Amino acid sequence: MTVVRPFGLSVRGPALEADVQAGLAAVEEGLLDATKSEVPFITQAAQHLVRAGGKRFRPLLVMLAAQFGDPYAPGVVPSAVVVELTHLATLYHDDVMDEAEVRRGVDSANTRWGNSVAVLTGDFLFARASHILADLGPEAVRIQAEAFERLVTGQILETAGPRDGRDPVEHYLDVLGGKTGSLVAVACRFGAMMSGADETVVDVLTQYGERLGVAFQLADDVLDIASDSHESGKTPGTDLREGVPTLPVLRLRERAERLGLPEDIALRELLDSDLTDDARHAEALTRLRVHPALEQARRDTVRYVEDARAALVPLPECDAKASLMQLCDAVVHRAG
Ligand code: IPE
Ligand code: IPE
Ligand code: MG
Ligand code: MG
Repeated sequence: MTVVRPFGLSVRGPALEADVQAGLAAVEEGLLDATKSEVPFITQAAQHLVRAGGKRFRPLLVMLAAQFGDPYAPGVVPSAVVVELTHLATLYHDDVMDEAEVRRGVDSANTRWGNSVAVLTGDFLFARASHILADLGPEAVRIQAEAFERLVTGQILETAGPRDGRDPVEHYLDVLGGKTGSLVAVACRFGAMMSGADETVVDVLTQYGERLGVAFQLADDVLDIASDSHESGKTPGTDLREGVPTLPVLRLRERAERLGLPEDIALRELLDSDLTDDARHAEALTRLRVHPALEQARRDTVRYVEDARAALVPLPECDAKASLMQLCDAVVHRAG
């Protein structure tokens, strides 16, 4: 039984709620169907994280965006399945890259079966997503290909770090647009497009998704430091351990440079040391959790959320718009 932890109290109005619930139930069926293989072990590996749950944030966005046209149009549910499968595939790969041991509250695929199986299962999921996409037409294929290219570029740029002379915060925000904004934008775009919404509405929702996606990732990065694993279903401090400098750390570095306070400089030194050491890692997490840099990263998240909210202004007033607005609050709330 899949444990889906829905994302925030985001759906307004009983008719909309019924539509969204029905849509998400069809997506669940589609996901289980798309992850079946003739080889039982592949089914097991591919369904491992599907069955572990997750927030289904992207399918929810597809359903809400589809309300601006015909929400029952035939492409809506398959496009949501494509987006969630793509997301899922990137999680299998990301956990290999980040050496993450826990995902969605269960062992990551790499922990359970090793890196090779995790990478190949991710590839299998991409293949299945492409198969469904083919029936949605060439424009959908192109949109997905472009987003996927941006996503992978984001992941690679995160790994490579900023080139000499580039502002690290700007680099990081570009990375987030690529690795997360791109696919969240596609979720909104597909929902609107498949429902036959006007092109201007499709553009508005795409813009909203891009900004909301960046805010969502910023909140996730704050959560990586601020939360316990019960909340996130992941191991806290994974970014720190892997030496991935997320915004709270980058804000700390800026502050240490600007103000030169001894406690900031000491924390920066700790962050520069080998954080695969458990005691140092715990110490860094404890100190960052109460540091003003974490607050600053929360304020940065709010800024992106406000931009996402502003993107929605031209849309007609309706329950779906109110729900998309409320999702913005849920993202802020998540960052604490
Ligand atoms: C995790 O995405 C990776 C990020 C982009 C932050 P989600 O937070 O949507 O993960 P699930 O789908 O709920 O597990
Ligand atoms: C996840 O990035 C983004 C993608 C999977 C493309 P992170 O590494 O920051 O996310 P979590 O914290 O593992 O979910
Ligand atoms: Mg990760
Ligand atoms: Mg990562």
